[in-house]
Amino acid sequence: MRKPGSIAPAKGKLGVLTPGMGAVSTTFMAGVELVRRGVAQPVGSLTQMGTIRLGKRTGARSPLIKDFVPLASLDNLVFGGWDVFPDNAYEAASKAGVLEPHHLARAKRLLSNIRPMKAAFDPYYVKKLHGAHVKKGRNKFALAEQIREDILAFQKNSGVSRTVMVWCGSTEIYMKQHPVHASLAKFERAMKENHAAIAPSMLYAYAALQSGVPFANGAPNLTVDIPALQELAQEKHVPLCGKDFKTGQTLMKTILAPGFKARMLGLNGWFSTNILGNRDGEVLDDPESFKTKEESKLGVLEYILQPHLYPQLYGKIHHKVRINYYPPRGDNKEGWDNIDIFGWLGYPMQIKLDFLCRDSILAAPIVLDLVLFLDLAKRAGMRGIQEWLSFYFKSPMCAPQLYPEHDLFIQMMKLKNTLRWMMGEDLITHLGTEYYD
Ligand SMILES: NC(=O)c1ccc[n+]([C@@H]2O[C@H](COP(=O)([O-])OP(=O)(O)OC[C@H]3O[C@@H](n4cnc5c(N)ncnc54)[C@H](O)[C@@H]3O)[C@@H](O)[C@H]2O)c1
Repeated sequence: MRKPGSIAPAKGKLGVLTPGMGAVSTTFMAGVELVRRGVAQPVGSLTQMGTIRLGKRTGARSPLIKDFVPLASLDNLVFGGWDVFPDNAYEAASKAGVLEPHHLARAKRLLSNIRPMKAAFDPYYVKKLHGAHVKKGRNKFALAEQIREDILAFQKNSGVSRTVMVWCGSTEIYMKQHPVHASLAKFERAMKENHAAIAPSMLYAYAALQSGVPFANGAPNLTVDIPALQELAQEKHVPLCGKDFKTGQTLMKTILAPGFKARMLGLNGWFSTNILGNRDGEVLDDPESFKTKEESKLGVLEYILQPHLYPQLYGKIHHKVRINYYPPRGDNKEGWDNIDIFGWLGYPMQIKLDFLCRDSILAAPIVLDLVLFLDLAKRAGMRGIQEWLSFYFKSPMCAPQLYPEHDLFIQMMKLKNTLRWMMGEDLITHLGTEYYD
C-alpha cells in the first residue's frame, strides 16, 4: 500500500477490454466517444459529474472528483474486447438498438474499428447463445493462455500503458463454489483437466489477473468469487471488484429500503417483475441463467433490513423477483414493484413503482466509473477485493469474514471516504461543527 496521497500519475493511454461486446459494452464505448466530442453529457457517472466535500462545511471545498483524484482522462481511453459474434462494435450497437441513429453516426468511426477477438465460450454455460466466433484449444488452460496473448497483443498494438478488464458478457448458469476453486494450484490443475467447475468467465479473469490487469465483474456470475482467483489477485497485486452492475430495479430497492428502515417502517412483502426484450433478457429466459440473476437480486433486502435485529419489522418478508423476456420492449425494460409496508400500530400501506428504464443507459456510466476507479486503485497500490466500489454492484464482494454492504448511501460514504483517505484528506464523520474541529 502506498502512503495516502502518493499515487502514481495517470500517464499514457488506458486500455479497456470487455469480454462481451453487446448492449452495455457498446453503449459505454459510444457514450465515451460522444462525450469526448462534446455531443453529450456523461450523466450518471460519479467520476465525471460528482463532487466531493473536503474538510469542514465552513471551508466550502467541494471539487469535482475527477479534479481531486488523478483519474485517467476520457481522451486517453482505448477500447477492445471479445465476443462470440464477429460483429464490430458499430454493428453490435446497431443491433442492440439502445442508441438513436444520430448518436450512432457520430461514434461510427470509432466503433467500426473495434472488432471483437474470438471468445472463450462454451454453450453449456450460456444455453441460449450459439455464436461461432470462438477459440479452439486443447483444454481450458490453453484457452486462458490465448486470452493472455490477446491482452498482450492489444497492449502492444494500441500502445496503452495500463489496462483494465470489465466483464460485460452474458449471465452464465448458476454455479456454486467447488473444491477445485479452493486454491490457485487446484484451479490451474482443473483448467488443464477441463473441469466443469471452470466457467469461461473465469478464464478471462484468470488471464487478466495473471497479466496484472484489474478485473470488474458486471454479471452475477461466480467468476472471481472464489479463493483461487482472490489468491492470484493478492499475489499479483491486482485490484478486483464485483458483482452484477446495480442498475434498474435493484438500484431502486437500495434507495427505498434504507429509507423504510431509517423511519422504522415495517415490510411484509416486495414483489418485483420485469419485461425486457434485449439479448440479456433472452439469455435470462433460460432458468439456469435466471437462477444466477435471481440469487444476486434477492440478497439485497435481507442485508439492508437486518431482520435479525428488527424481527417485528422485517422478520417475515415475502420477496419475489421475476424477469420475463418480451421482445417488443428491446433494451427499454419496464420494472414493476409492489411494496407492502406497515406503519404505526401495524396498519398496512402499499407503494407501487413503475420504472420505465433503459438498462444499458443506466449500466454504461457504471462501466466508465469502474474502469477509472480500478485503474486509480492499481496506481495507488491497492489489491484484492475493492469493497469501496460496492456502490456499483447488486451483490457486492467483501472479505469472507464480513457481510456485504447494500445500502446505497453507506456505499457512497465508503466510496468518498476511501478517496479522501487515498489523498490524505480528513474523513468526513458528519458530526456537527460544535463537535468536529
Ligand atoms: N444492462 C444492465 O442494466 C445490466 C445490469 C446488471 C448486469 N448486467 C449484465 O451485464 C452483462 C451484459 O449485458 P448486456 O445487456 O450487454 O447483454 P448482451 O447480451 O447485449 O451482451 C453480452 C454479450 O456477451 C457475449 N458473450 C457471452 N459469453 C461470452 C464469452 N464467454 N466471451 C465473450 N463474449 C461473450 C454475447 O455474445 C453478447 O454479445 C449481462 O451478463 C447482464 O446480465 C447488465
